[in-house]
Amino acid sequence: MTTLVIGGAGYIGSHVVRLLLERGEQVVVVDDLSTGYRARTEGADLVELDVTSPEAVDRLAFHLTSSGADSVIHFAAHKQVGESVENPEMYWHDNVGGLANVLAACAKAKVRDVVFSSSAAVYGMPDVPEVTEDLAPQPINPYGASKYVGEWMLADAERAHDMRTVALRYFNVAGAGWPELADTQVMNLVPIILDALERGDVPTVFGEDYDTPDGTCIRDYVHVLDLAEAHIAALEYLRGGDRPHRVFNVGTGTGSSVLEVIDAIAKVKGIEIEPRIGERRAGDPARLICSTDRIRETLSWKSEKSLEDIVRSAVEAREAAAQD
Ligand code: WQD
Repeated sequence: MTTLVIGGAGYIGSHVVRLLLERGEQVVVVDDLSTGYRARTEGADLVELDVTSPEAVDRLAFHLTSSGADSVIHFAAHKQVGESVENPEMYWHDNVGGLANVLAACAKAKVRDVVFSSSAAVYGMPDVPEVTEDLAPQPINPYGASKYVGEWMLADAERAHDMRTVALRYFNVAGAGWPELADTQVMNLVPIILDALERGDVPTVFGEDYDTPDGTCIRDYVHVLDLAEAHIAALEYLRGGDRPHRVFNVGTGTGSSVLEVIDAIAKVKGIEIEPRIGERRAGDPARLICSTDRIRETLSWKSEKSLEDIVRSAVEAREAAAQD
C-alpha cells in the first residue's frame, strides 16, 4: 500500500509516517518544510510542495499517480487559535484552500481513501461532561471553523467522487513517540511549561477560578503515538468494507487539569514547580473531555498511554535535543 502524507514532516505527521514505514508500507511525504523538517521523513520519498500554490493540484495528482498511491492523509495546516483570530484570511486561504486542492487532486488521480486532521476546536465551548461526535459543532474561532468547513468539504467530495473519507478530531496532543520527532513549537501547555522551566521562568496557569475540582481548566491529553495509531486504524477502516461513520474524536476519555499536568511534570523532572496564577485566557472552556465510544467501537482504537507517559516522553525529548 502507498500513502501520500501531506504535512508528513511535521510533528504529528512524522509519527504517522514512521508507523506506516514500520508496517512496511510505501510513503510519499509532501511538505513545504515551513514548520516541518526533512530529517523527520527519513525512509520516505519527500516532495517539497506548498499545497496552496496554483500548481498544487496538478503536482499532487502527478505524484499520486506516479507513486500508485491508494490513500492520502492530510495534515498540512495552520493550527494556532490566536493567529487565526488575528489573520482569519490566512486560515481560510491555506487550511480550506489547501484541502480543496488536495481533494481535487485525489479526484483527478482517482484516489479513494482520505484521512483528514480535524480538531476538537470544531466544538467551541461545549458545556457537557464528555464531548460526543453527535454534539453540533459550534466553532468559536477561525481555526476551528476552518476545520469544520474541511469536514463539510470531505462530505461533498464523497458525494461527487468515488471517495471515502475520515476526519479525526484531535483533542490535546502532546508527548513524543521518538525524541527526534518531538514537537519543536512552543504553542501548547506541555511544551510551554517545559520551555519556561528551561529558561528559569515561572509557568503561568491561566485562571484558577473555573468550576472544576482544583479551579483550573481540564483537557483530554492524548499521546501523539496513540494519535498516530488512530490514523492507521482510520486507514484500515477506509480500506475495509463497512463504514458507518466519517468523523471520530481522538482522545483518552480522561481529563487532566492544568495543575495536574504541572504536577506530572514536576514529578517526572523531580523538582518542585510553583506556578504563577494568571488571568483566564479568552475562549477557554472549563472542561473539554473526549467521548471515546465511537472510535473504540468502530475502529477498535483506544489510547494506551498515560499523562505520565506523555510528560516523560516530552521531557526526555527535550533533554535529548539539549545534548545535540
Ligand atoms: C491547554 C490548557 C490553557 C498555556 C489547543 C487548541 C485546540 C487543539 C489543542 C489543535 C488550557 C492552559 C496553557 C499556559 C495555561 N489544537 N494553559 N498556561 O487551548 O486546550 O487547545 O490545542 O487542534 O484547538 O485550542 O490547548 O495547550 O493552549 O492549553 O494555563 O501557559 O492549558 O488555559 O486550559 P487548548 P493549550
